[in-house]
Amino acid sequence: MTGFDSDETLSALPQTAEREVETTLRPRKLAEFVGQPRVREQLELVLESARRRGVPPDHVLLSGPPGLGKTSLAMIIAAELDASIRITSGPALERAGDLAAMLSNLVEGDVLFIDEIHRIARPAEEMLYLAMEDFRVDVVVGKGPGATSIPLEIAPFTLVGATTRSGALTGPLRDRFGFTGQMEFYADDELDLVVRRAATILGIGIDEESSAELARRSRGTPRIANRLLRRVRDYAEVRADGRITLEVTRAALAVYDVDELGLDRLDRAVLGALVNSFGGGPVGVSTLAVAVGEEPGTVEEVCEPYLVRAGMLARTPRGRVATASAWEHLGLRPPPEYARPDQSALFD
Ligand SMILES: Nc1ncnc2c1ncn2[C@@H]1O[C@H](COP(=O)(O)OP(=O)(O)OP(=O)(O)O)[C@@H](O)[C@H]1O
Ligand SMILES: [Mg+2]
Repeated sequence: MTGFDSDETLSALPQTAEREVETTLRPRKLAEFVGQPRVREQLELVLESARRRGVPPDHVLLSGPPGLGKTSLAMIIAAELDASIRITSGPALERAGDLAAMLSNLVEGDVLFIDEIHRIARPAEEMLYLAMEDFRVDVVVGKGPGATSIPLEIAPFTLVGATTRSGALTGPLRDRFGFTGQMEFYADDELDLVVRRAATILGIGIDEESSAELARRSRGTPRIANRLLRRVRDYAEVRADGRITLEVTRAALAVYDVDELGLDRLDRAVLGALVNSFGGGPVGVSTLAVAVGEEPGTVEEVCEPYLVRAGMLARTPRGRVATASAWEHLGLRPPPEYARPDQSALFD
């Protein structure tokens, strides 16, 4: 273990070395899945009704920011149905042939999981329409005028799509899902359960105050909660006697540059640029992304949802605007127009 590199500690995106531990920590059954009461209840009904009728359930779309449990839920759906799951992703389905091969290998009742489904290439997407609706694909053989299309039956299956950007999905694709689960950020008490569950699985001792503190600073995201737990464990082992107490937790979080609200470096950079370089906005998301040296997609899908939910940033038709809380969080005084009773002029 070399020092405490905090670079990616807070990112909601998975790190490569993290896959294995994420697999260990994945809830296996719906009953084990913490939080998301609405999605869980809706999904329970969809699955139970399909089970009773003895047919594969409707196609399911799971949408929400990274690290909230979309992949976990997809696997749970398969497990609850006692079905096998085939996993692929939008970017992997560049050619329609890739998708045709996957689809024709499906066995009745299989779950096909397509992660990042908004990034699927157009020809594959069009093939998916027919597959989702009629369990059929048209395979085109040959090129040019001599090309013929051969219809191919596929086994009835359930498609589970995951996306961090449901807005980027085309209408026809979205319409073919029978159920959309909109994942929300987790409440602190739910994340507290996530942390304790992970601590038990990983054999980490942690007291109640510390798990509550970790939950509070995890940006509403289980992936981050689990990661911070492991980083605090490292700190406790190296710099303390191995036990995780509130004092150790706070000291560790300070080392990893996790602020009181759990905002990460990128979140703070975005707020900082918005406030310091653009006077609080409104400013377009691409300009904001250039200012912090990130892809607009990352700022939009990874950063903004939490900043909006934390009441720091507003998305308006004219661009992104910092709220008074954003200024205050950065230790600055909001400009006088924020103090007016009718702030709405800023945000329309
Ligand atoms: N409800 C939950 N209860 C317990 N642990 C959870 C829950 N949701 C997610 N996790 C944990 O968070 C990790 C990340 O979850 P998951 O990979 O399912 O997120 P995701 O939404 O698919 O993220 P991405 O958009 O990056 O693919 C999992 O390994 C799991 O340990
Ligand atoms: Mg995932």
